[in-house]
Amino acid sequence: MLEAYTERWALVTGASSGIGAEFARVLAGNGMHLVLTARREDRLEELAEELRQQHMVQTLIVPADLCDPGAATALIERIDAEQITLELLVNNAGFGYVGDIDGTDVGAMLSMVQLNIGVLTELTYRVLSKMLERGHGAIINVASVAGMQPVAYMPVYSASKAFVLHFSEALWAEARDRGVTVMALCPGTTETEFFDVAGVPGWLKKQRAQTARQVVNEALDGLEKRRGCRVTGFWNYLRSLAPRIATRKMVVTQTMKYFRPRSTEAGDSP
Ligand SMILES: NC(=O)c1ccc[n+]([C@@H]2O[C@H](COP(=O)([O-])OP(=O)(O)OC[C@H]3O[C@@H](n4cnc5c(N)ncnc54)[C@H](OP(=O)(O)O)[C@@H]3O)[C@@H](O)[C@H]2O)c1
Repeated sequence: MLEAYTERWALVTGASSGIGAEFARVLAGNGMHLVLTARREDRLEELAEELRQQHMVQTLIVPADLCDPGAATALIERIDAEQITLELLVNNAGFGYVGDIDGTDVGAMLSMVQLNIGVLTELTYRVLSKMLERGHGAIINVASVAGMQPVAYMPVYSASKAFVLHFSEALWAEARDRGVTVMALCPGTTETEFFDVAGVPGWLKKQRAQTARQVVNEALDGLEKRRGCRVTGFWNYLRSLAPRIATRKMVVTQTMKYFRPRSTEAGDSP
């Protein structure tokens, strides 16, 4: 798998946990050297040590809060200064928030837009232009099945992932004849820290979830096939078809049952 990437460098954002950490493990297992970034430096160091020991690959960790102004630019400058050429970018860092309108912190929503959309857009363009010059390389942008329709009680998150999906598919169409693949990855519920961060720690217990490893393996299969979008998991794929056959009203009102807070309707809380 992925022979073209062996001995080359990948940048994985949000590598300190969940899907990002698993991308790092699987890519290192395929012989890729890794630039790892996220805020939790201790986790990055632990992971980098594990990858060096188990797979003898090189690692560069760049701890950063990517929401900080200029952080994405500084990350690329650091990679350039190390004379690292990226063959693969995994734009994975992101977070969500589940809650009703009244409880929403506007500042946190703006940070979400900055990370899920702003940082991803900047890193994509800065890395893609160099890949196009060379005529090879790939970018995986982590979207979500939540980006395939509006999701009540997750309006900013689902809209941010709709951006990632449309943005990535459009670039896939532009770049595919120039040797570069841009793929949107759409996982469904996955066993990570995502739901703790989003404010619904009990959610995973009630759901059919994939492991991060399953998501990553399917992502890399999609990348090998040079797909513009990969929905992971058969059930997620089936559910992703609903917006194509139901009315917009049906689709969005259906989502209300998943995340309706307890205060709004007893018994429906995740
Ligand atoms: N889990 C799911 O069900 C699911 C489903 C569909 C899509 N996704 C997407 O998958 C991606 C990975 O999420 P996950 O499920 O693996 O959740 P996770 O375990 O919470 O991982 C999120 C990663 O993003 C990093 N991050 C968050 N804020 C950051 C910031 N300001 N600056 C830099 N890094 C930041 C976190 O690291 P630090 O906290 O150390 O900064 C962490 O490494 C996200 O884009 C998410 O939207 C998840």
